[in-house]
Amino acid sequence: MNTSNFEPKIVAFCCHYCAYAAADLAGSGRLQYPPNIRIIRSPCTGRLEVEYFMKAFEDGADGVIVAGCEEGSCHFKEGNLVAKRRVNYARKLLAEAGLEGERLRMVNVSAASARKLVEYLREMASTIERLGPSPLYTGKPSAKQERKLR
Ligand code: FES
Repeated sequence: MNTSNFEPKIVAFCCHYCAYAAADLAGSGRLQYPPNIRIIRSPCTGRLEVEYFMKAFEDGADGVIVAGCEEGSCHFKEGNLVAKRRVNYARKLLAEAGLEGERLRMVNVSAASARKLVEYLREMASTIERLGPSPLYTGKPSAKQERKLR
């Protein structure tokens, strides 16, 4: 693949109460973040299983960012701490698969931290641009995607 034309695909899992609200605020405040970041809203980052991160990579993401409430502020008490452990575990799995751990990152923001969230998203985009395309993506549709195509 010609990496000079590389446009990283990044999935951002955002918890509903803080990170998604911050992303919303960024939108209404016209704060720009890279357009190739797909935001997926989750009730809480604690609901995100390790499989979700791995699936995002399998389906073509070059980077995944998990954005939750600040520590001590999760609306489900410890969801963001659970997510932190899962992200750390998933990073180990990625390392075993030969992928740089920097491709998966967790950040914590408050609902009012639109600028901070945008900064994290931009940082992630430049990290992934530096790392290049993820080798995990085969370009082949998963079995589930194939079933949908039929
Ligand atoms: Fe935001 Fe749990 S509700 S991380």
